[in-house]
Amino acid sequence: QKLEMELETIEKGGYDHFMIKEIFEQPRSIADSMRGRLNAAEAQLQLGGLSNYMDKLVAADRIVIVGCGTSWHAGLVAEYLFEELARVNVEVEYASEFRYRNPVIKENDIVIAISQSGETADTLAAIELAKSKGATIFGICNVVGSSIARASHAGAYTHAGPEIGVASTKAFTAQVTVLTLMALAVAKKKGTITDEVFERLLAELDNIPSKVNKVFESATKIKEIAFIFTYAKNFIYLGRGLNFPVALEGALKLKEISYIHAEGYPAAEMKHGPIALIDEDMPVVFLATKDSSYEKIVSNIQEVKARKGRVIAIVTEGDTLIPTMVDFVIEVPDTHEVLTPLLSVIPLQLLSYYIAVMRGRNVDQPRNLAKSVTVE
Ligand code: G6P
Repeated sequence: QKLEMELETIEKGGYDHFMIKEIFEQPRSIADSMRGRLNAAEAQLQLGGLSNYMDKLVAADRIVIVGCGTSWHAGLVAEYLFEELARVNVEVEYASEFRYRNPVIKENDIVIAISQSGETADTLAAIELAKSKGATIFGICNVVGSSIARASHAGAYTHAGPEIGVASTKAFTAQVTVLTLMALAVAKKKGTITDEVFERLLAELDNIPSKVNKVFESATKIKEIAFIFTYAKNFIYLGRGLNFPVALEGALKLKEISYIHAEGYPAAEMKHGPIALIDEDMPVVFLATKDSSYEKIVSNIQEVKARKGRVIAIVTEGDTLIPTMVDFVIEVPDTHEVLTPLLSVIPLQLLSYYIAVMRGRNVDQPRNLAKSVTVE
């Protein structure tokens, strides 16, 4: 028993929990997910595991992405990436829903299955179904040799390293990283982006690990915000565009480990319901980075402030407008819009972690949840 405890302490590498260790590992896990694939200096991008199927991917009329939980959120980010960069139709499905509908799958359809563990029963069943209808399956898994990796025709591993905390953190950013590489490789081959944009994005990707490190400089501030909101009963997370899935992921992190009720919404949908919940007791987290939705987000923030909601905004470094409007700001470095989720999700992971710790929750093993759901 004692030995086991000591072993665990060593494995946590000086951190209190696996989750916080894994959050802080992200500069490394993102870099590892690009290693040997991305060479920004020479503007080279190669995904060995996909090379035999690249033509199919380029020729596809439609990509269906399946996953569960956080992996499904990575799929939603990928929907924006593939549509924006590679101009291909994308549908993102909960694996559990997909498998029990009678989904229309044609032979040249591509299905991308996203799974950290590679063992999620619903995701595995979804790809078996798609395979039986003739689709080509790409697996984006973290665990080498896992069932989903083996059941796929091709794929790319995420190389995040073992993730122990039940709430997924570094696996999410690794998934988004690999999906970005995939979208870029297809876009380049299809000619849907210019060489200039391609090269700029490779260079920006290369900078992401050091920018994630910069986000960590706000950890103390985030802890202070967490302290203020420790006993909140509800939380709303709002974002638009690529930050919409990030809002969903932020809300999921908070409910998983702190047991605070949290909802993520596309910011513009607020007026169709959630706005009724806003009063002086409602914390609202806005993903408000400087991107094409910025002006719209600014007016959404005004709507919440007019109803006395308490706003925490994730903003781009140097933003001077939003800090004058809201209660708290957390800065993230500027990057290309399509890479924003890799930075904007980090403060949300930290916020949920610190709140859960302050509430005395079992952060690494929250009640009722399993790391890998291998049964229905
Ligand atoms: C469980 C975990 C989540 C994870 C989801 C999908 O619910 O607690 O963290 O996102 O399963 O798991 P997968 O291994 O397929 O990514």
